[in-house]
Amino acid sequence: MDNKNNKTENKKAGFNWYPGHMTKAKRRMQEDIKLVDIILDIRDARAPLSSTNPDLKQMCNNKERVILLNKSDLSDKKVNDAWIEYYASKGIKVICIDARKKNYLKDIRKLIDERSAEKRERDLKRGIKNRQIKVMAAGIPNVGKSTIINTFAGSKRAKTGDKPGVTRGNQWISLGKDILLLDTPGILWPKFDNEKTAMNLCLISSIRDEIADPEDIFRFFYEELSESYPDALKDRYGTILTSSWDEVLRDIAILRNCIKSKGEPDTLRAAMLVIDDFRSGALGNISLERPK
Ligand code: G4P
Repeated sequence: MDNKNNKTENKKAGFNWYPGHMTKAKRRMQEDIKLVDIILDIRDARAPLSSTNPDLKQMCNNKERVILLNKSDLSDKKVNDAWIEYYASKGIKVICIDARKKNYLKDIRKLIDERSAEKRERDLKRGIKNRQIKVMAAGIPNVGKSTIINTFAGSKRAKTGDKPGVTRGNQWISLGKDILLLDTPGILWPKFDNEKTAMNLCLISSIRDEIADPEDIFRFFYEELSESYPDALKDRYGTILTSSWDEVLRDIAILRNCIKSKGEPDTLRAAMLVIDDFRSGALGNISLERPK
């Protein structure tokens, strides 16, 4: 979490600021899309709607797009299944993955194969044999783009962070003999026009912490938990008898020994602790969005 001045500045600027480097990243991505056949649309399984930028669909234009719900090790398994079913009912096959694990690579490869079958057939008709399918990973910050690339590459060489601007030639990672993955991810700025999406994005760390007050994030999160995971806080922090969000936060501060020098419960620290526990999975498998 950042200092008070930064927080005030960002609050003044409102939720919809758009950093300059993202304009550059978008331009680069539009160029890269021209080079590939399939885009891996990577989202956070805990919030598949909030963690996508609708511009991506438009930017893909006539290219194939494959949706991967990443970090499914942190989301609610039942909700994962509900999302798979939801997308299937729309004729879209999605898979839930943990980008850090190599055993999901075969599933991703299989999905790419399925989605490129038509293209391969068209190629064959034109007499083109064994043309490699080119793929790129794309998504908003922190959904796991670099991790997927690194897992495919089998090393840490694709760590790019979210600050593009370093000029380099395109490099490709071979995924078996017939698929090539671009080693530079396409980075999109998250899009949000309502508080719920903004809060979800804060919780999954796709927008910077200082954009919202941790206690506001906690209040939002507490409402979500009360509805869908009423025992999550009790299971993690112990008996909590009160029910209004601010009292619960005070209880957690006391239970976790977050106390200010004057003996007052440090609710800011407690809020940050709960947010961190959600992010690391210490609160259990929690999904912030589910299909309607
Ligand atoms: P990005 O390129 O889309 O911005 O995301 P990146 O791959 O850098 O991943 C962001 C963070 O999420 C990293 O953690 C990464 O390890 C973690 N991560 C990626 N995929 C998964 C997943 O499927 N499950 C879980 N639990 N975590 C995942 P970090 O703490 O920022 O960095 P690191 O120290 O782990 O490298």
